[in-house]
Parts: sequence; C-alpha cells; structure tokens
Amino acid sequence: MDNRVYIFDTTLRDGEQSPGCSMTVSEKLRMARKLIELGVDILEAGFPIASDGDFEAVQAISREYSWAHVAALSRARKLDIERAAQALEGAKRPRIHTFIATSDIHLQYKLKKTREQVLEDAVAAVTLARQYADDVEFSAEDAMRTDPDYLEQVCRAVVAAGATTVNLPDTVGYATPDEHTTLIGRMARALGDSAIISVHCHDDLGLAVANSLTSVCAGARQIECTINGIGERAGNCSLEEVVMAMRVRQDRLPYQTAIVTEQLYPASQLLSSIIEFGPQPNKAIVGENAFAHEAGIHQDGFLKNKATYEIMDPRSVGVPESRLVLGKHSGRHALAQRCADLGFDLSREEIDRIYTHLTSLADNKKGLRNEEITDIIVRETGKQSASAVAN
Ligand code: KIV
Ligand code: ZN
Repeated sequence: MDNRVYIFDTTLRDGEQSPGCSMTVSEKLRMARKLIELGVDILEAGFPIASDGDFEAVQAISREYSWAHVAALSRARKLDIERAAQALEGAKRPRIHTFIATSDIHLQYKLKKTREQVLEDAVAAVTLARQYADDVEFSAEDAMRTDPDYLEQVCRAVVAAGATTVNLPDTVGYATPDEHTTLIGRMARALGDSAIISVHCHDDLGLAVANSLTSVCAGARQIECTINGIGERAGNCSLEEVVMAMRVRQDRLPYQTAIVTEQLYPASQLLSSIIEFGPQPNKAIVGENAFAHEAGIHQDGFLKNKATYEIMDPRSVGVPESRLVLGKHSGRHALAQRCADLGFDLSREEIDRIYTHLTSLADNKKGLRNEEITDIIVRETGKQSASAVAN
C-alpha cells in the first residue's frame, strides 16, 4: 500500500468554530497563505452555509489561492451543497465535503431519522455534490459510535455514488486506539482502492494523535487535523504532533507527508497572534517549553550531547534554538555556558560563587532573566562582559 499520508487541515473550519478562535475573512486569508507554505494537501476553508463570513472566506481563499486544494463543508442537504459549490467556484481543485451523522444516538435524538433515511440522504448528497466537483468527501459523523455493519453499508453506498474520500470521525473523542485499528481496518478492507479513508479525531480523552496514527497503520491515508490542535471542545488532532511523530519515528511509522516541517512553529505563532490564545507552554513541538531545559542533570547532558535530552532538532520545526532556563534546578554547566554567552570570561571559582548566589535567588523565582544574571556577575566579580567593554 502507498505510504503517502494526506494532511487535511481544518484549522479554518473545525478549529475556527470553537470558542476564542473565530477569524475574519482577512485573517483567514493570512492563515491560509501560511498553511499553503506549510504544505497541507487539502485546506478546509469553512462551512459556507453557516454564515456570510464563512461563505466569503471560502470564496476569497478559492480565488486568491486558486491552485490550492480547497474544501468547503456542507451538511447532506441540497442548499448546503449548492452554497458550498458556489463558494468554491474560483478554486481549480475544489472539494465538497458533505456529512451526516450515522450513530443511533444522533439518528434518534438529533436527526430523528431512521437508518434507511440517513443512508438515502448520504447517497443523495454525494450524488448531488458530484455534479459540482470531481472530488467529494463524505463524513459519517460520529462514525466511531456507529454500528459497524451499518457504517460499512453507508461507506459502500457513498463510494458507489461517487465519494472519493470517506472520513470516519471520532466526533466526540470517545474511541480508543484499538477500536480505531478494528474499525478503520475493516473499512479499509471493505473499500480497498475505491476511496481514500480519512480519520478525524477529537481530543476529549487526549487520544486524538494516537488514534490518528493508529488509523494510518490500519489503512487510513488522510488525517484531518489543526494547527495547535484547536477545534471543538478539547480540540482536534494536532497537525504538528501527528506530522512530527511520523517524521521522527520513521522506524515505527514509515509514512510520508508533504509538510514543510520548518513552517510548523511559524504557523503556530501566526495562529496564536490571530486567535485569542496560544498553545500551553508544555505543548509538544510548538509550546514555549518544548525545547527548554531547566534541570541541572538535563542541562549538563544536553551541553555534552543534545541527543541526550532532545529527540528532534528545534530548527527542524522552525524553532530557532533550544533554551537553557536558569532556575533553581539548574547546574553549573549551564551557568558557565550562559556566562560565556553573555560575554563574561570567568574562572571556575567565580562560577561557583555566582552559582551559590543564583540558586538562592532562584529559589523564590520561576527563572532568571539575562539582566538579573549579568547583575549578579558584575556584583560578585566586578568584571564587565566583553561586549560592554567593547562599547
Ligand atoms: O467532528 C466531526 O465529526 C466533524 C465532521 C463535520 C467532519 O467535524
Ligand atoms: Zn470535528
């Protein structure tokens, strides 16, 4: 089986529809440019029937980046599909993404429809969408809580109707990795080469990345994900994490994507500057502390050989460099390195003195800034840094 995995970015749709993440049309255009530079394969630009703003954003992105593979979401309804098709008119490679829920709980309480009616709606939606686009994705919302026999029936029927990608979302982030292996594996065997199988995992139990990777191992070849993992409730599968897992662990996950990984951090930063929040500091790959070391033992190992405590080069994800944080857990080795970086030529005995001073000061602080360290050095040794002398 081909090992190329397509990255379907839904930052501008599923991501944008979550609290604190709404974007204006011009913000979406800026973010779309960055996503294209990042190398995402498909860019879901919005849900045109949902609002005029969403319609305009899909239209503007389709016109401005007409060569890009742009997707627009629609429910399995005639008006939705027509609106999506209209918004995508400027795109050279449009994808209509239509969905309907298939789990009994959604059928009974939300849609109030029978399985037969939903099957009919799904086939009708795909058939109509194919009149506007050669590339049609069908999503069986809440697939992971759907009866597998019924799900297989729906999948076969939508592919027969012309769906080129079949997405099996874990809409409520409930399923475990082994359940993904079983369900995705079954659908991959059922559909063979007739369609690409996609996964769309939410992170309610913190399993979205693991579930997406497991699904790829079971035969999925498209991952739906977002920058910084933004999205409904606890978010979607984080693009940067899932891509770097495949890149760093090629030995276990021998799959390829077209992502330019050096653009991951810039994309994360841009998104944070547009929406109301950034990733938490300890977020993998793009968090402020993802390449920061404070513990003395770690700093010492890192300074001897980076591979002791870093599994990837920060520059490979666009982070300029690792950071050694000087705090109460730090060691002499990192302090000596920082003093040298600040332009001080100090003896071992001077470093020892400064170290004692620094650890007692750092006991009550979260970390020391360069100016504070410089002050201590000047006070303890009376020396000036090389750059201060030159000035
Ligand atoms: O979570 C979900 O099921 C979705 C679909 C619309 C793909 O976002
Ligand atoms: Zn979703």
